[in-house]
Amino acid sequence: MIVNNWYVAAESTEVVENPVPVRMLGCDFVLFRTTAGEVACLSAVCCHRGGDLSRGKRIGSCLQCPYHGWEYDRNGRCTKMPALGDDASPPKRARVDAYPVEERYGYVWVFLGDMLPAERPALPDFLPMYADDSWRVVRLKRDWHANWARVHENLLDASHLFLVHSFGRHLPAKMTVWPVTKTACGGQVIQKYPARAVAVTAVNQAQAAQTRSESTVTLDFSIIGLMHRNDQQMSNGYDQIIWNCLTPIDADHTRNFGLHFRNSRKSPDHDAETLKAIQWGLTEDAAVVEHLRPRLMPVTPAGELWMGTDNMERLYRDQATAFGQRLGAIDVRRHEDLVRDRVLVIPSPGRREDPDGWVHGTVPLQAAAGGGASKNAMS
Ligand code: FES
Ligand SMILES: [Fe+2]
Repeated sequence: MIVNNWYVAAESTEVVENPVPVRMLGCDFVLFRTTAGEVACLSAVCCHRGGDLSRGKRIGSCLQCPYHGWEYDRNGRCTKMPALGDDASPPKRARVDAYPVEERYGYVWVFLGDMLPAERPALPDFLPMYADDSWRVVRLKRDWHANWARVHENLLDASHLFLVHSFGRHLPAKMTVWPVTKTACGGQVIQKYPARAVAVTAVNQAQAAQTRSESTVTLDFSIIGLMHRNDQQMSNGYDQIIWNCLTPIDADHTRNFGLHFRNSRKSPDHDAETLKAIQWGLTEDAAVVEHLRPRLMPVTPAGELWMGTDNMERLYRDQATAFGQRLGAIDVRRHEDLVRDRVLVIPSPGRREDPDGWVHGTVPLQAAAGGGASKNAMS
């Protein structure tokens, strides 16, 4: 699991008055909205004696621990210790990690890492059409009992469509090997299909079948933000864009946030059937992906037999490995062992600015391995 990356923690509408618990990368966080309307994200474990801040209460623009009432501001600094009286000023060590937050596309994005603004990777704008009224947008969420990289590879994979998906049964099994392009944060492939040879949702399939439309599919992924966009332009004008973003809950579970844009049948009356078709497709994927072995991204490509038709997934794995080495990746085995009797957090930028005087330790990171996918050791 890559640190120093942006992850969707929640839908913006989920973060209102009450603190919201979120588990990401095997660590616990709490989101809350200040009285000024800004979202704050803190490590959820109180540095006093382990209270769960997500079960606490918002008081003004602070969060109160449910155990002894210490209050933390949006920067993670303890401002009040009730047992010591109102005049007491909390020591510097009375603080928890606070993470940078940005709201975009109706989601709360959190930067999980300690990079300072100048070195922090910028979240690419994958959805410039987000506020464009010519599209109807629906929002979905799904939890997978599978590793984030396993899920993401599946969502980029075209050679399973004919077999796994009911909407893909009319597709030929034989694939064209489309050239893939490495981009700054990920990769891209552009595929062209003859009439009726593409359908990503049942909605689209019905339209394609009626009009025998040709189509161009542009698939982009970004390791920054762990997202991808599937842009389907059809010659009959029925276009759709599918955007998915993945947040590792832990090494074995992944939360999938998604947006679907359509430029036809834009009445809200068609939202439910659109969502149902997308979820149906993802359920078909899950029946395979949740049973892959090994469960995590394989430690070496030598344990699999890659073909040219797997080139997009191969590029994904190369890029995920390269970014993991550049940004840092959690050593999952050591982490899972250590957290049995101690709190370990993902270091926040506050630790870079002021390294001393923190109560909780930080998650173990993998040693940078070098060598790209040939030494893929990320989980
Ligand atoms: S454990 Fe949080 S105030 Fe004591
Ligand atoms: Fe699929």
